[in-house]
Amino acid sequence: MKKLTYLLILASAIVSNACESRTYEEISDNTPIILPVTYTNDVKPIIENNCVGCHSAGGFIVPLTTYDQVKNNITGILDRIQRPNGDPGKMPKGGSLSTAQINTFIKWKADGLNEN
Ligand code: HEC
Repeated sequence: MKKLTYLLILASAIVSNACESRTYEEISDNTPIILPVTYTNDVKPIIENNCVGCHSAGGFIVPLTTYDQVKNNITGILDRIQRPNGDPGKMPKGGSLSTAQINTFIKWKADGLNEN
């Protein structure tokens, strides 16, 4: 009987631990973005690190190297970065942005697509 109680405590500790770390991840990844999002401060660094390798200036694929190019393609960008894993059209191709990065694009649009 003692053994069973011990096992139950151990099992519930593992389960609650797993839940806690998951919840923590979700919270930290979904921290609300308070300040207005701008292209120069927030969006451009994400694009430079994750997109411009393929979407370069003068390339065959639609370039995403200037404010106007990114702004004019925001509808397509929001569509592509939010597609499920495994969707062949998901961007960045072969990977995924973090929830926080995706939220940055969503809030940039909601904030009015400002450059600075
Ligand atoms: C490994 C290369 C690669 C990376 C990295 C990449 N893309 Fe792409 N992207 C492509 C290719 C190839 C296409 C054209 C094929 C297609 O439409 O799926 C494309 C198409 C697109 C389109 C559709 C353009 C149109 O035709 O209107 C958008 C929008 C887009 N990408 C956004 C992004 C964004 C935003 C990122 C970064 C988060 C990104 N891509 C990263 C290769 C890439």
